[in-house]
Amino acid sequence: MKNIKKFAVLGHPISHSLSPQIHLLFAKEFAINLEYKKFDINKDNFFESINRLKIDGYQGLNITLPLKNAAYEICNKLSERASFSKSVNTITFLGDNIIGDSTDGRGLINDLSNKKIKIKSKNIFLVGAGGAANGAIYDLIQSKPEKIFLTNRTFTKAIEMKKYWNSFAKKNQVILETINLDFSNKLYFDLIINATSSSLTSQHSPLSEYAFNCLKDEGACYEMMYGFETPFMTKAYEKTDSVYDGLGMLVEQAAASFNIWHQLVPTTENIESYLKSL
Ligand code: ATR
Repeated sequence: MKNIKKFAVLGHPISHSLSPQIHLLFAKEFAINLEYKKFDINKDNFFESINRLKIDGYQGLNITLPLKNAAYEICNKLSERASFSKSVNTITFLGDNIIGDSTDGRGLINDLSNKKIKIKSKNIFLVGAGGAANGAIYDLIQSKPEKIFLTNRTFTKAIEMKKYWNSFAKKNQVILETINLDFSNKLYFDLIINATSSSLTSQHSPLSEYAFNCLKDEGACYEMMYGFETPFMTKAYEKTDSVYDGLGMLVEQAAASFNIWHQLVPTTENIESYLKSL
């Protein structure tokens, strides 16, 4: 079709990606003529694939696991958050430039806001120190919680994460603190976020009952994964009804990518329930 705008998502595995459906729904709202494909790409053929898609006239790409760091490496222009997070999930081809941004953090913050979960001046417990946690913490810090507690199964990674983000946190008057996964001192959390991939390999919650008991009565638990109730969510439900998976974050990060490419703000309200019905 003439004048069709070409986009795609790259990752491995990719067959279950919902990004094409989401972007086509956004496009429908503004009557934009676009195609949105998904390509199963691994790290070995990533650079060559990007260049081919650029030559083929693609305007932008979403990048998902395990390629977000490789995408960071290939871009010659980066937003501040992508540069800090060393992660790119949104590429825009503009002239000779490959521009990288990361919308995962904004996706999380916007979804929390949709769910009326406040971050400002609150105590956040961020579980995990891999790509997902590091991809979200820039926006978490910018939302100015009082404190972010960092933890990880491999504790040295949580310590490194604090070291890496500490000056940015201080600049935003946010306190970063590391705690062991099996901590036993009395703490109070307003929000617990699971940014680990533990549900892909384990049937156990990465957090103990003790940690969930440190959640304030009006607190919430957020799982970045989506598609099924994870052990983290099951444990969280024993403490509160305010438990959410990452489907809303997926929709909101897509909306932020759409905004970068089209300078339009799509309606996201009913998309989560539509995706659940698929
Ligand atoms: P991603 O980019 O998806 O975050 P990653 O960089 O491999 O992937 O990080 C995965 C995160 O999940 C890490 O924090 C990892 O902990 P380790 O650093 O100790 O590996 C965490 N994780 C994975 N499986 C876990 C499990 N069964 N229990 C607790 N944490 C787990």
